[in-house]
Amino acid sequence: MSDGPTVRDVSDWWSTAVSRIEPDVIELRGRPIQELIGQTSFVGVIWLLLRGQPPTPGQERLLEAALVSGADHGPHAPSIAVARIAATCGVGLNNAVATGVNLLGDVHGGAGEQCMEMLAEVTSRARAGSALGHAATSVVEDWRARSKYLPGFGHRFHSVDPRREPLMNLVEAAVAEGVVDGAYLRAAKAVEHVLTEGRRKPVPINVDGCTAVVYGELGFAPPLARGLFVLSRSVGILAHAWEETGQGRRNKGPMPPTILPTYLGPV
Ligand SMILES: CC(C)(COP(=O)(O)OP(=O)(O)OC[C@H]1O[C@@H](n2cnc3c(N)ncnc32)[C@H](O)[C@@H]1OP(=O)(O)O)[C@@H](O)C(=O)NCCC(=O)NCCS
Repeated sequence: MSDGPTVRDVSDWWSTAVSRIEPDVIELRGRPIQELIGQTSFVGVIWLLLRGQPPTPGQERLLEAALVSGADHGPHAPSIAVARIAATCGVGLNNAVATGVNLLGDVHGGAGEQCMEMLAEVTSRARAGSALGHAATSVVEDWRARSKYLPGFGHRFHSVDPRREPLMNLVEAAVAEGVVDGAYLRAAKAVEHVLTEGRRKPVPINVDGCTAVVYGELGFAPPLARGLFVLSRSVGILAHAWEETGQGRRNKGPMPPTILPTYLGPV
């Protein structure tokens, strides 16, 4: 008969390279927390925990810019709206924030991850020998056969997303400085060109597309585009939930109570 799990087996059950926590010891990726506090930015710690090594200053600058760009998009964003509604329902700030975060899915908040996958297809077809323009055209055709809207392009409100230029400029500068190689940037521009060709109204890359470029250039896996967006948007969700808490409403509905939903009549 086996002796059952040993203490070692139980320790191994939770094996982790992320952190070491023992009495009087806190190390994140091998770095004592005492050395990180006051020395390393929060963005630097995000990189360190996810990647295992500290970022270079250029990498940190790009990651920070992407995180800043997604922080908030007001109560029109469903994640912000539901967090504010939840904050009036007596569930506490943690549940209000979780309510908002739980809404970040394939349709709202997931475009960055999908865009990274699409741009990765463009870069791999280009690497396999296809001219970049051809690679972009064929990937756009494949993706449009599945959906009218390509992830990371176009915007409901903005004709050109105000976050596009600063983010793309930063990536351009990072390419010039040799921080990143520019493959995702070139792929995104090629897709943007395909989407704009022959149209009266361009379909520019939006914040999810720009952050997909940043995360792709920085070597993050596509699911982390969504994870990093959750971190970024959580800041806006928290601020809105907290503001709503301070406004003292109870049971806030999706619209003022004087406006009624359209009644469709008995079936
Ligand atoms: C946000 C979104 C729904 C807006 O779509 P919309 O309201 O149709 O936008 P517009 O009215 O400006 O579209 C104008 C034209 O561009 C096209 N278009 C818009 N976004 C497009 C996209 N992402 N891919 C391909 N074509 C697009 C529209 O189909 C429309 O074409 P038409 O004139 O031939 O009908 C759409 O762009 C979208 O779903 N984008 C992808 C998802 C995404 O990235 N979301 C995150 C936004 S921050």
